[in-house]
Amino acid sequence: MSWNSRKSIGSVDDLHEHHRLTPTLSWPHLVGLGVGAIVGTGILTLIGVGADKAGPSVILSFVIAGLICACAALCYAEMAVMIPASGSAYTYSYVVIGELFAWIIGWSLILEYSLVVSAVAVGWSGYAAPLLEATFGIPMSLMQAPELGGIVNLPAIFIIAVVAGLLMVGTRESANLNAILVVVKIVALIVFVAVALPAFNGQNLHPFMPFGFGKTMGADGVERGVMAAAAIIFFAFYGFDAIATAAEETKDPGRNLPRGIVGSMVACILIYMAVAAVAVGALPFTTFANSPEPLALILRELQKPWAATYLAGSAVIALPTVILAFFYGQSRIFFVMARDGLLPRGMAKVSKRGTPVRITLFTAVIVAVIAGAFPLAEIAALANAGTLAAFVAVAICMLIMRRRAPDAHRLFRTPAAPLVGGIAILGCIYLFISLPGTTQLYFLMWNLIGLGIYLLFGHRRTVAK
Ligand code: ALA
Repeated sequence: MSWNSRKSIGSVDDLHEHHRLTPTLSWPHLVGLGVGAIVGTGILTLIGVGADKAGPSVILSFVIAGLICACAALCYAEMAVMIPASGSAYTYSYVVIGELFAWIIGWSLILEYSLVVSAVAVGWSGYAAPLLEATFGIPMSLMQAPELGGIVNLPAIFIIAVVAGLLMVGTRESANLNAILVVVKIVALIVFVAVALPAFNGQNLHPFMPFGFGKTMGADGVERGVMAAAAIIFFAFYGFDAIATAAEETKDPGRNLPRGIVGSMVACILIYMAVAAVAVGALPFTTFANSPEPLALILRELQKPWAATYLAGSAVIALPTVILAFFYGQSRIFFVMARDGLLPRGMAKVSKRGTPVRITLFTAVIVAVIAGAFPLAEIAALANAGTLAAFVAVAICMLIMRRRAPDAHRLFRTPAAPLVGGIAILGCIYLFISLPGTTQLYFLMWNLIGLGIYLLFGHRRTVAK
């Protein structure tokens, strides 16, 4: 096939039975998967990194990142119901633009999903470590990345192994367990807001924007400003795209997918606004900036140790839902790319239970190595770069399809498409520019490697029709 060949929308329907996933999910599963994937290390841990970069105006960073993400979510919903096949942005790009572009986006999605799994495992470890130290006497050096003074982050590796095991048992079972854990997580955030709100002090919000708006380099070599924080905080908002990757396994996707995507997005934006405002209002931001467990720290500083332990315990129990959802998305991206022949086709085999076991194991090893060795902020920034590329692609695909097939039947239409699509594209580009310079460089290197692999291997073996 040539670099610009496109996949037809119908081609996902006539795949060999062993290469198809079974539709078992309906919309409550999807909202569960969505909120389960969205609320995680972003609000629980990166809020501390964001506060370090923006001060109290991290609230503004949340609003900006949330709005851009919501626009991308609307574009996603339209594309997901037009092309309800596994693979999300990768598959849309393949259908709308062509093979090479699809490869680049698929390659970005691999980066996104793998690094989110690693980042959230490190976030989990941040809340688990103090509990593990107190209960089992495990030394902190075995629970932190080398760059932060540790040797290896063992809890992060452990939780990845547990989630990989769950996924190999089967999708349906994992999604049901996920739904229970989502409730635990939301209740913990409500408890945080209720307990910390009485400590709200307007003085803590002054000066509101100590590091300015646009990204600027601080004397300590750290890039700061509202946008620099927004580029990191962006991590907190995505995850609804993990739902879109489950499209092929969704019953009645035209109805269930938009409900799942838009519903979970709106719920999360509202919860985050409350948590961020209460966090920066309760204490001076310097108290919890860059902490591995900022929300628990705030509660302890407010002399509410029971609430801190409750929140940390809930994070430990429930954060694995985020790992689960992205791990799930990751194995499906690999699966679809292998099925298309862009990766070795042996990877696309599903087990008797209908789960792609080989890909899950392969992914687990790689993300565990990254989680064991690198600090959270760096992993999250690179994950964001991959996600931003995918979001831009989805918004472009949505706008192209509006032109190419204006009258096609659309079960869900993005409202004010040119405006919403435009905000998604330009907003994501602005966020990308606001990421740390090193992250941008790593992202470029990742794509150069990807292009090399495509030219040497993927290009000749594709099976698109
Ligand atoms: N939005 C997800 C999180 O914050 C990735 O953990």
